[in-house]
Amino acid sequence: MSISEQRAGKPCYIIAIETSCDETSAAVVEDGKIIRSNVVSSQVETHKRFGGVVPEVASRQHVESVTWIIEEAVEKAGITLSELSAVAVTQGPGLVGSLLVGMVAAKALAFALEVPLIGVHHIAGHIYANRLVHELEYPLVALVVSGGHTELVHVEAPGRFRIIGQTRDDAAGEAYDKVARALGLPYPGGPHIDRLAHEADAAITMPRAWLEPESYDFSFSGLKSAVLAVLNQARMKGETLDPAHVARGFQESVIDVLTEKALRAAEAFGAKQLLLAGGVAANKGLRERLKARCDEAGLPLLVPPLSLCTDNAAMIAAAAFLKWDKGQYASFDMKAEPLLKLEAWSV
Ligand code: KG4
Ligand code: ZN
Repeated sequence: MSISEQRAGKPCYIIAIETSCDETSAAVVEDGKIIRSNVVSSQVETHKRFGGVVPEVASRQHVESVTWIIEEAVEKAGITLSELSAVAVTQGPGLVGSLLVGMVAAKALAFALEVPLIGVHHIAGHIYANRLVHELEYPLVALVVSGGHTELVHVEAPGRFRIIGQTRDDAAGEAYDKVARALGLPYPGGPHIDRLAHEADAAITMPRAWLEPESYDFSFSGLKSAVLAVLNQARMKGETLDPAHVARGFQESVIDVLTEKALRAAEAFGAKQLLLAGGVAANKGLRERLKARCDEAGLPLLVPPLSLCTDNAAMIAAAAFLKWDKGQYASFDMKAEPLLKLEAWSV
């Protein structure tokens, strides 16, 4: 008899651990959609002074935090360890040293509790964050925009992913962070640029990288270079530019391309919903533009609340439920995979 059958009729409590980058998080989710707890400890203050995530520092902080975060997640969920149905963990992609900390903790817990271990793709997690607040309808298209990823994903059925477009160089969030740094704004720069772009009364026009007409791929490094060139030229001429005008020009370029390609993909793949996911989904300008375009097209736009856009373990538990449902468990020799492919993870 499978574990799913043994537990038929009982709630499924999955504890998930997420340590792929600079957030240490543990969460307990009931039946793939009810958040019982979602504890997130951000290292952003530590990495701020370096202007970006320092991998070795991140791993060490995960080691210090992971145990108490797991304990807190179980306590806040109001359940006992013996009630847990499975342990899920982000297998990749991410920083290998950081992933390893979560992986070891998850294996130890699953082994001690004698429950299944489930490896989860980080991007599947970002997409299924939406499942915690919305009913999903397939086929759907997801726009995943974070510090490490910019992807358009066709999800034909639950857990069946196909990447139809991705960045050829920098991720959208990475471009935000680099441009913010050039403007002297603190790390992470996304929210600061977003705020400045809204305050601006004008924009310095920046190029848009549409690439080949039929392509769903993205490219942001040319845009980043264009911003740096504008700033350098002004410096050489002794002119001062209003950072808000630069921020607005940059943000408009990013939003134009993301929105157009996402809507074109949704139409081409007959999507019933467009999902927004990842840290950059917090961007006010992007949300507003997508909402307006989706309303025009009569396409439902699903966006998770801000706390579920950035890295958190509840989204990992939500994606893990897909594998739980199918009895697709990992073995104890599962490895952290910094370059794990989304398609390969499909259920
Ligand atoms: O998903 P996430 O928390 O971590 C990764 O998996 O990368 O995304 C973090 C990224 C950072 O690059 C940050 O600057 C960006 O999301 N971000 C934003 C905004 N809030 C966070 N970018 C643009 N506008 C925002 N409001
Ligand atoms: Zn992420």
